[in-house]
Amino acid sequence: MHRPRIAIFISGTGTNMAELLKACKSGFLKADPIFVASDRDSAKGLTTARNLGVESLLFSYKDLGRTEAEKCIAETLEDRNIEWIILAGYMRILSPEFVRRFKGRIINIHPALLPAFPGAHAIEDAWNAGVKTTGVTVHIVDEEVDHGPILAQQEVQRVTSDTIYTLEERIHNVEHTLYKNTLKTFFEKECNK
Ligand code: GRF
Repeated sequence: MHRPRIAIFISGTGTNMAELLKACKSGFLKADPIFVASDRDSAKGLTTARNLGVESLLFSYKDLGRTEAEKCIAETLEDRNIEWIILAGYMRILSPEFVRRFKGRIINIHPALLPAFPGAHAIEDAWNAGVKTTGVTVHIVDEEVDHGPILAQQEVQRVTSDTIYTLEERIHNVEHTLYKNTLKTFFEKECNK
């Protein structure tokens, strides 16, 4: 079976990225991670990716600016025949031009039940709103922020003993499982088309 060539984009710790790389390595996820990209040189995940044997690349928005950085990213993706772009804690908003160039081929994970709580502080926003149920969403990226066809969602309940930290931890644990499971099903379906 064809193994899709993927690139994973991060900005920080990269725990979701590490889970996906391990899932590819174990054969659970039938995809080839070609590289991991970050917009920040301080992203710890760059070292994690290297330690897991995957090339890691920096596209510094700080040095290049968004237009130039996106141009370099797009050329690299095309040169390396990347089929799917997997966002895993990538804290940049991709321009509508970039999203159109890779239409339907960018996937994101978001730590809330979209359309509720889009944006960079989803867990905190859900906590402050006092919702009893929040969760995780995996979706295809369209030109709006944290928006696009939903592939999977899983609820996480807030319990009385929760602090924002314990809630956050449970959300991250759900993310780690939901992302690989969703991508597994998605790639298998896509490859059989
Ligand atoms: C995750 O909560 C993800 O949903 C959000 O950013 C966080 C990244 O965490 N977009 P990590 O870098 O994968 O640990």
